Amino acid sequence: MRAIKDGFAHQFAVVTGAARGIGRAIAEHLHRAGARLFLVDCNAAALEETTRVLRDSHGSAIDCAVADVADPAAIERLAAQVASCEERVDVLVNNAGIEFDLPLEKVTADIFDRVVAVNLRAPLLLTKALVSLFSEAGGAIVNISSIHAHHAFPNAIPYACSKAGLVALTRNLALELAPRGIRVNAVCPGYIDTPMWDEWLRTASDPEALARETEALHPLGRRGRPEDVASAVAYLASTESAWVTGTCLVVDGGLTIRAHP
Ligand code: NAI
Repeated sequence: MRAIKDGFAHQFAVVTGAARGIGRAIAEHLHRAGARLFLVDCNAAALEETTRVLRDSHGSAIDCAVADVADPAAIERLAAQVASCEERVDVLVNNAGIEFDLPLEKVTADIFDRVVAVNLRAPLLLTKALVSLFSEAGGAIVNISSIHAHHAFPNAIPYACSKAGLVALTRNLALELAPRGIRVNAVCPGYIDTPMWDEWLRTASDPEALARETEALHPLGRRGRPEDVASAVAYLASTESAWVTGTCLVVDGGLTIRAHP
């Protein structure tokens, strides 16, 4: 996959949920384009592996921290760790997310709160904790939402609410942070081949049939790859999108443009 060579040289980027899937692809893309990285994930083993692979690829420097972004105290600790690594943050990607595939009758207060804590409250608290580290020149924040923010799918109420909230958070942060030159945008991916997607497929009685069915829904003829999302994030994090803020970029291979399947 192409990355704008050195497009992020001398930039420092914090990426959450970076150990695997979309977050790892975002980290790889920014790393190839010259960014120094601070990677965050609650999966210590996977984070260590991703960090090792990226360090071995002769790119820019990488730090990492194991943290549960749903824990406000952990976010404060993270902000202190980030500040001890670099004086200035240029890019924050709030990517860490979780999903539970449950019908209404199985949704509990605890499940709803957990999903919202990871998918919505963490981006808010991490932005708040890191905003003073952005320079007077500003920077970019990219939140990974979902097509669930705008379209209903079965068994996805907590997830959809959290992702719709994240779009609202993106708009409101964009307005508040615009005077400081910090742009805030969201990416809304469709079906992307990641471990999260695999876990969802396995909830079906016939995962292969479900995979074929969802593939066929895409006008562009395939499901998404993590790199498709990473490219969109790189655009929104770079000066190529200098006049874009508060928006939501749908990356779904045309899945949600059809009126009828
Ligand atoms: P994934 O499950 O493959 O990876 C998510 C990463 O986030 C994992 O490394 C996990 O350990 C980490 N994480 C989860 N909870 C965390 C927490 N509390 N603290 C720190 N790290 C945590 O998921 P995937 O597919 O890569 O998704 C990434 C983002 O993209 C999520 O926000 C997801 O909602 C969103 N998304 C994914 C889509 C897909 O089809 N895969 C579609 C639309 C949006």
